[in-house]
Amino acid sequence: MPLRQKRRGERNVGELGVTAGELVKLAESYGTPLFVTSEKRLLDNYSRLRDAFGKHYDDVVVRYAIKANSNPAIIKTLANRGAWMDASSPAEVEFALAAGSDKKRIMFSPNYVPRAELEQALDMGLVINFDSIGQFSALAKVGRPQCVSFRLNHGFGKGEFPGTTLSGPDSKFGIPDSRIVEAYRLAKEEGVKRFGMHMMCGSNVLEPEYFAAITSRILDTAGRLKSELDIVPEFIDIGGGFGVPYRPGEVPLDIEKAAQLVSREFMEKSARYGLGKPQLVIEPGRYLVADTTVLLGTVTEVKSYEKRFVGIDAGMNVLIRPALYGAYHQVVAVTKPDAPLTIKADVVGEICENTDAIARGIMLPEVTAGEDVLAVMNAGAYGYSMSSSYNGRLRPAEVMVTTNGKPVLIRRRETFRDLMSTVVLEDIGTRAKRE
Ligand SMILES: Cc1ncc(COP(=O)(O)O)c(C=O)c1O
Repeated sequence: MPLRQKRRGERNVGELGVTAGELVKLAESYGTPLFVTSEKRLLDNYSRLRDAFGKHYDDVVVRYAIKANSNPAIIKTLANRGAWMDASSPAEVEFALAAGSDKKRIMFSPNYVPRAELEQALDMGLVINFDSIGQFSALAKVGRPQCVSFRLNHGFGKGEFPGTTLSGPDSKFGIPDSRIVEAYRLAKEEGVKRFGMHMMCGSNVLEPEYFAAITSRILDTAGRLKSELDIVPEFIDIGGGFGVPYRPGEVPLDIEKAAQLVSREFMEKSARYGLGKPQLVIEPGRYLVADTTVLLGTVTEVKSYEKRFVGIDAGMNVLIRPALYGAYHQVVAVTKPDAPLTIKADVVGEICENTDAIARGIMLPEVTAGEDVLAVMNAGAYGYSMSSSYNGRLRPAEVMVTTNGKPVLIRRRETFRDLMSTVVLEDIGTRAKRE
């Protein structure tokens, strides 16, 4: 059943294909805080990205970075369309398998993990993307992966915030260009026959030229592997980092142009270095999921002493990006979509931290506690997957509005019982009584 009949002139909220009125109805039915995801937008994002690259190069793989949103319903939707997977932990591997991904399509790409996790990936036959020479050496003592990739830190990073700049000397990730040949030499000496290459150096980048520039760098490194070690990588993964606009007025990434420039660089340098036709892999998280989802929170209190604070039941425990990075998320009062924006306020959550804010100094209509619902836009990437139960707060439910307009619960709200499910109290009580 579709949510309800649209009234004339009613506009969709963001890219969701769902109106403000429909979101209010979902908040009433499922409660808040609530993540609402549009299946249509998710599929559109995937097709747009894949087609943009597929137009220029015929061996392109989109590996979805599960960390952005690890709900298996989202993973399944993308896997059904042909997406491969990038998993950074054993649990993310399990999410992918639960969602029906083939293990041949999952790359395990961890950092600073114990050897046991690498052994598990080896036993499963996954492609492993090593973050360091040490990781590879540790695993080589017990077994040899069929296909080995190393993460290159080529020193050139571009992030929206210092915390999301993933390359350069201050980044904990990868192997610098000066040591990368050594890594592949060791793998070759250990008898590895199949290779891939990987890098991930940018985050939320909106300039197409950037992607071509980093592609050029990894291809130069691939050229050195060929000339110095006679290694030809089967795949070259240029990472994610494809950005989405968060602020009103920001120009979206021209993905057609990015794909064209990247493919041109990729083909030109593959030919120059005699690499044949390696698979071109892109590894997006944010681009696929960010704008598919809004986070709904009910106004819990409006406090106006020296400054005005609008409290909602969705704070840093549910969406940590503003508190962690100072990230901007647009906020829309879906109960009053057409009301004039007359008040300036910080939108804050229920957590006992002064960093617990969703937005600072934004304009809103007059809102009332217990009545109004705010939608936090672009909440699909690094929202639920970075959420916590801090202060004993329960994680929200997640609903997907399917392409035929039907809302489907894809994760129920946590309960107190969930929070207690890992706790062992018996021994404490018994010992205390005995002592
Ligand atoms: C290895 C790796 N791949 C892909 C991604 C996805 O990045 P984005 O969401 O910016 O596309 C990340 C994000 O941190 C990452 O660490």
